[in-house]
Amino acid sequence: MSARPYVICHMMSSVDGRIQSKRWAFEGAARFFEVQAAKIKVDAWMVGRTTMQEFSSHKPRGKAKPAPRIPKTDFIASFRSKTFAVAIDPSGKCSWDSNEVDGDHVIEVLTEKVSSSYLHHLQENGVSYIFGGKSELNLKLVLEKLRKLFGIERVRLDGGGGNNGSFLKAGLIDELSLVLMPVADGSLQTPTVFDVEPGTTRRTAAKLALKSVKRLEGGALWLRYRIEQ
Ligand SMILES: NC(=O)c1ccc[n+]([C@@H]2O[C@H](COP(=O)([O-])OP(=O)(O)OC[C@H]3O[C@@H](n4cnc5c(N)ncnc54)[C@H](OP(=O)(O)O)[C@@H]3O)[C@@H](O)[C@H]2O)c1
Repeated sequence: MSARPYVICHMMSSVDGRIQSKRWAFEGAARFFEVQAAKIKVDAWMVGRTTMQEFSSHKPRGKAKPAPRIPKTDFIASFRSKTFAVAIDPSGKCSWDSNEVDGDHVIEVLTEKVSSSYLHHLQENGVSYIFGGKSELNLKLVLEKLRKLFGIERVRLDGGGGNNGSFLKAGLIDELSLVLMPVADGSLQTPTVFDVEPGTTRRTAAKLALKSVKRLEGGALWLRYRIEQ
């Protein structure tokens, strides 16, 4: 058995790979993402910090109070849920006033750059957290910890483009589930399905093997691929 969970990247894009569906005059676009996502059996969904801020608290956290030093060690809060919402949030920017998103227990993935006052905020709200590196994340280690500490065996990687790009670059995506919408976006400098930082030494273009194609209502397609590293 692998030491890390199986990772399925699930995204909805325009035909030109853009992912900001709010820009599209396509009523109910989000439903296309959600309906197919619900068909993928996983223990956790995982998103980048920018995307998670759409689900985390919108209340301002106020000025950080001085907090007693909290050691930079993993923290498993008490939780009832069997499923998880994971935020890749290296600097600790998401605020929480609950430890769940839609019933899924929240796990923050941090680096040791975060302050004790942020850890105090997470503990106060019953949010679990794990460390994935000192100042940069080791995504393989992150996945291994999710499996070891929370028993997560299958993860749905739900974006956004930067987050997906870093997992692609690290060779940690097993499948791509793409809902291709009948929209030509054409925007410049907006996130795409995979945004890989320039300057990487690893070949970033991954070859895909088609597993299935399903025609959805309204001219959308659901494409499923295995990623050949
Ligand atoms: N159509 C779809 O299916 C879909 C799905 C999800 C999201 N979206 C859209 O995508 C957009 C957001 O995408 P995005 O690319 O801008 O942001 P994102 O991928 O959601 O978040 C990127 C941020 O996550 C953190 N991060 C992720 N991987 C990291 C790594 N390996 N190392 C260090 N930090 C890492 C960094 O946070 P810091 O900046 O704090 O360092 C980074 O700036 C939103 O408009 C959202 O609505 C669309």
